[in-house]
Parts: sequence; C-alpha cells; structure tokens
Amino acid sequence: MIQILLSMALTSSVIAAGIPKIEQDQPPAFCNKLDCPKFETVQTFKEGYELRRYQPSKWVATNVSAIEFTREINTEMFYKLFYYIAGNNSKHMKIPMTAPVLTNITHGAGPDCESLFEMHFMIPFDLQDDTPSPTDPKLYITTLPQIEAYVRSFGGFPQQNDYVKAVSELADEIKDSSKYNEAFYFEAGYDGPERFTHRHNEVWLGYEIRRYEASRWVATNKTTMEYTDQDRREMFFRLFHYISGNNTQDLKIPMTSPVLTKVSHGPGPTCESDFFMYFMIPFNMQANTPKPTDSKAYIVDMPQMDVFVKSFGGRPSEDDKIHQLELLASEIVDVNQFESSFFFTAGYDGPYTLNRHNEVWLAKI
Ligand SMILES: *[C@@H]1O[C@H](CO)[C@@H](O)[C@H](O)[C@H]1NC(C)=O
Ligand SMILES: *[C@@H]1O[C@H](CO)[C@@H](O)[C@H](O)[C@H]1NC(C)=O
Ligand SMILES: *[C@@H]1O[C@H](CO)[C@@H](O)[C@H](O)[C@H]1NC(C)=O
Ligand SMILES: *[C@@H]1O[C@H](CO)[C@@H](O)[C@H](O)[C@H]1NC(C)=O
Ligand SMILES: *[C@@H]1O[C@H](CO)[C@@H](O)[C@H](O)[C@H]1NC(C)=O
Repeated sequence: MIQILLSMALTSSVIAAGIPKIEQDQPPAFCNKLDCPKFETVQTFKEGYELRRYQPSKWVATNVSAIEFTREINTEMFYKLFYYIAGNNSKHMKIPMTAPVLTNITHGAGPDCESLFEMHFMIPFDLQDDTPSPTDPKLYITTLPQIEAYVRSFGGFPQQNDYVKAVSELADEIKDSSKYNEAFYFEAGYDGPERFTHRHNEVWLGYEIRRYEASRWVATNKTTMEYTDQDRREMFFRLFHYISGNNTQDLKIPMTSPVLTKVSHGPGPTCESDFFMYFMIPFNMQANTPKPTDSKAYIVDMPQMDVFVKSFGGRPSEDDKIHQLELLASEIVDVNQFESSFFFTAGYDGPYTLNRHNEVWLAKI
C-alpha cells in the first residue's frame, strides 16, 4: 500500500518538475510598500489564479459569529483592530499598518447557521518576536500556520456578495474540491477607501500546514508485511498497559489524544514496513517520564515537525487511510515538499464515539 503512495508521488514529481518557482525578494506592488505576509508562487494557472505558499506569520485578530457578514460587523471588527495599532496595546505604541486585512470565514453547518468571521491585521515584521498585547479583551494575537492557498485577485470596491462570487468562481476554476479545505476561505483587502484605481482584492482557498512542537511519547513497533487488526490491538494494549500502571513508577497515567501511528517503508527490495504506535505523554509528565516495564515499549522524543494534514470522519480501514493519503499528496502539488518514505495516521476517538475525527499526516521536508 505504501508503494501506491510512492508511485503516485513519482507521477506527480514529473508534473512538479515543470513548475516554475518564483521566490519573493520584495513585497509585491499590491502590498503598497507595507509589510505583508511572505509567500512564494508555486504555480500559476491559465485561468488567472495562482497557488501560493505562505510562511507562518503573527497577526492580531478578532472574531464574530453571525449569519451574515454585514457592513456594520465588518466596520466594527476593523475599528477594534485599528484601535490596537493606534495605541490601545500593552506598549501604548503606534504600530504601522500592514497589508492585507485578512478575514477567515468558516461556514456554519446547515443553511441558516452562523458562520465564524475572523478578521486579522498582520503584526509588522520587526514586532513579530516581541508583540504588544491587545488591551481590548475581544482581540487576541494568533499565528497563522504555513498555508498553501489558491488565490484569485480582482479589483474594485467589493461588497460581501462580490467576495462570495469571486470565491465560487475560484472554486469552479479549481474544479477539484479535494485540493483545498472546504470548511473555510479567506478574503484579503489591500487598499484603504481613499484609493480609487488599481485596487487589489483577493479570495483564498487553501489548507494549512500544522507545526507540532517537540514532545515525548511512549512507543512500540512491529515490522511486518501486513498490518492486521491483531497487530493493532496488540500494540494498543501494550501502550495501554503502560499508562495503566505497568511502568517504573507504578503510576496511572491519563490517556492523551491522538493515538498516532507511523508507517515507514523499509529500505531495499523488501515488502516489510515498520509500524510504530504512539501515545503522547501528558504535558506534566514530559520532564519526569516513567519507563515502561514491558521491554517492547519505550519512550521516544519526537522532534518539532511540520505536517500536511487531511481530516476525515468515519471508521476508516487501512485502505481508506491510504486513499486519504493519496488525496492529501495530490493536493500538495510539489512532491519534493513531503517525506514519501513514511506517513502518520491519527485517531482521536474511542470505539463508541459517533462523530469521529481522523487524520493522515505527511511530514514536510
Ligand atoms: C483605548 O482604550 C481606552 C480604555 O479602554 C478607551 O477609553 C479609549 O477610547 C480607547 N481608544 C481607542 C482609540 O480605542
Ligand atoms: C480558519 O478558521 C477555522 C475555524 O476557526 C480554523 O479551523 C482554520 O484553521 C482557520 N484557517 C487558518 C488557515 O488559520
Ligand atoms: C474568538 O474570540 C474570542 C475572544 O473574543 C476568543 O476567546 C476565541 O478563541 C476566538 N475564537 C476563535 C475560533 O478563534
Ligand atoms: C503488568 O505486568 C505484569 C507482569 O508482566 C502483568 O501480570 C500485569 O497483568 C500487567 N498489568 C497491566 C495493567 O498491564
Ligand atoms: C522497535 O522496538 C524495539 C523494542 O521492542 C526496539 O529495540 C527497536 O529499536 C524498535 N525499532 C525501531 C526502528 O525503532
């Protein structure tokens, strides 16, 4: 099954070879000489949209849940953020304006449910490490993860319905909705109201690249050609016994989430793969971790890593997980960006949860 992933990765590497990479040395003209988030253009499409890869960046944000994103809500959120940069912050300093004003819109479930509107101003680069805190409790500082987004640009003074029209046109052009996270999209406005010509607005459809900090886990592994339910159960209970008290401190350790599995294709012409299963050690025990008494379980420190993530529901079989990995890999476009020799699957629920959350991860190189 890993071979499927690898051969698919190889096919897309042929495509990736033809992708021009445009590194950004100075901000594009539409940023109006203001600090704006750094990105590279991964691919441009004949329909006029492009795929960009944004670096992680720090923003001040506020949010509102509403059925409709009215002009009043928009103005109210804008001024909350504006007062923060005007001096209502812990350092009482005037903070330079940046671009764009970025709004993440997360659709509510159902036709008449509230959506979440989260508006952001980027923190200027020279304040990203030492950022003044907001004094307004409705404001918070947040880091936008690395994201890849399909971006469509347009001019004029867009009203909310113009943004919605632009994002549905973008979705039509991309055609394949598995290429982005359908749960949310972004609106980006680069110009103040005083600008009458060459205005620049954007909509983004994309997905995030998650960053995990270094952390400590209890692990066990098995090398096998086929990972059976029996293998999975055996490994699960080995780790479960560790947290149940079979450890050097006879401690009962709280369960954590997710149950993480790493599948690593061995070198050489063998068909055997290494399967690792992990439970995370709770934060308050990461410094002083009991050792497993079972010799087949051990403690490992995982380094910080960036991962591409795809979430899905249900009770996936091993084949379902491979299918989700293929979808994820096909979204990533540039095959040189992820490790193709191993992948992760993450399960967040016990056997009796109905509304289930599962993930597959590909590690970013
Ligand atoms: C700043 O905060 C103070 C105290 O909350 C408030 O009185 C003032 O109007 C605020 N100024 C701005 C520009 O938001
Ligand atoms: C947009 O908002 C949703 C809901 O809060 C969140 O899950 C998602 O991560 C956000 N997108 C990005 C790229 O931050
Ligand atoms: C929305 O804003 C509140 C503060 O007003 C914050 O506590 C909450 O985490 C925010 N929600 C999201 C999804 O970021
Ligand atoms: C702990 O290990 C002992 C000895 O191997 C075994 O008899 C016992 O059942 C184990 N207990 C748990 C909770 O796994
Ligand atoms: C697999 O687990 C054994 C202990 O049972 C350990 O000695 C070995 O290093 C592990 N293999 C890998 C590749 O980490």
